[in-house]
Amino acid sequence: MRQVACPAPPTKEHAVSDSKALDQVTLTAGDKAVALPVLKPTLGNDCVDISRLTKETGLFTYDSGFTATASCKSAVTYIDGDKGVLLYRGYPIEQLAEHSNFLEVAYLLMNGELPSKEAFSAFENEVTHHTMMHEKLKNFLQGFNYDAHPMAMLAASVASLSAFYHDTLDLEDPEQRRLAAIRLIAKVPTLAAAAYRYSIGWPIRYPRNNVGYVDRFLHMMFELPSEPLEMNPVVAKALDLLFILHADHEQNASTSTVRLVGSTGANPYASVAAGITALWGPAHGGANEAVLKMLDEIGTADKVETAVARAKDKSDPFRLMGFGHRVYKNFDPRAKIIREMTHKVLGELGVDDPLLEVAMKLEEAALKDEYFVERKLYPNVDFYSGIIYKALKIPTEMFTVMFAIGRTAGWVAHWLEQQVDPEMKIGRPRQIYTGYDVRDYKGAGDR
Ligand code: CMC
Repeated sequence: MRQVACPAPPTKEHAVSDSKALDQVTLTAGDKAVALPVLKPTLGNDCVDISRLTKETGLFTYDSGFTATASCKSAVTYIDGDKGVLLYRGYPIEQLAEHSNFLEVAYLLMNGELPSKEAFSAFENEVTHHTMMHEKLKNFLQGFNYDAHPMAMLAASVASLSAFYHDTLDLEDPEQRRLAAIRLIAKVPTLAAAAYRYSIGWPIRYPRNNVGYVDRFLHMMFELPSEPLEMNPVVAKALDLLFILHADHEQNASTSTVRLVGSTGANPYASVAAGITALWGPAHGGANEAVLKMLDEIGTADKVETAVARAKDKSDPFRLMGFGHRVYKNFDPRAKIIREMTHKVLGELGVDDPLLEVAMKLEEAALKDEYFVERKLYPNVDFYSGIIYKALKIPTEMFTVMFAIGRTAGWVAHWLEQQVDPEMKIGRPRQIYTGYDVRDYKGAGDR
């Protein structure tokens, strides 16, 4: 089958920022000229600092969807959407995918540096010993109907953690902040697996301490009380890699939500729970579930042309799920890694999924179609991940939950960074009011 050409992974030269010429820009508002400083990032686009604009001119700025607005300064993750570059703390995603593991990446995102051997062991040990959930959480989960979506259960149970750990929520204390981050990384897989087992009527499995992060999650998901689970290293490796690829993506919608909630001084469990709900939407992390449903609906490779035609038809709300990205106007580097992995994993597991052929045909058709080329719409991280999750026997409703497990590392890294940011203020956008001018109340008889 045809493979589509992808750009090479980034080198240092790829990542060097472009023009650094301007130190300020001058905005003229009527007869007033306001000099606005231009901020210089280490990589990426320069930013006009408009924080003085309203004071000096009375004007607000409007940027629906934040297409041109930086909401914070951050040293966690860098994306060059035109070149298809993604760096976690400076390390290209391709290198981390090849050499690292999810827990090491979580450490890197949280702490800024890769751990020494000893630091990694201590981190792994600490995460392992925080994986248990409070026994009462079982009662809490039992309040849900058996067919509740696991994202609803995950969001609610993560928010409820603040009620179990309210004695360690002093946000002024760096140790309590760090502990909350560790607890979230440790407990989200436990809560996720519990939500799944509840939905299928299986007893909740306690986390094992004698296995690694990913194996533990697989045990909690799939081990029967009556027989040990035979671990397949291909499955564990694939899942670990997917968690790495999902771990962070700078100021995406869910991370921005975590930061917005965090900016109010709300606790980290409440902030991350809000991030989970933002991730659920099909324009964001919910796309992986939507991709598989779409591929199922398309069904066979000969129906691909009809699907592409529908996606281009502006009177039809149908979009190609797993295609397009706000930032990437080139191959999403994660999609490239996942596509290669999909072939490998399906081959190693001996899975022959006809949906893979549909996906490849769809990708091929879209990439040569003028509509998609003109708009620079490429496959994103969610396009192939569902096919792998399916081959790993992860149920479709759990796909976005899997994304949330990986992204928890990024959410806590951003939350920790925000808490010590000297420029952090409550996030409070302005608006363009389009409602009525002032008017007088009328009694019911006069309306
Ligand atoms: N299928 C068909 N047309 C599309 C698609 C698509 N998947 N994505 C964008 N377009 C069109 C869109 O209609 C618009 O056309 P026009 O210029 O004629 O109005 C143009 O491309 C630009 O799209 P946009 O909606 O203005 O772009 P955006 O940056 O606001 O949205 C997106 C980005 C990811 C929400 C969008 O591409 C989309 O809905 N994709 C499908 C859902 C998806 O796969 N989401 C996962 C994103 S990656 C995982 C993550 O980080 O969350």
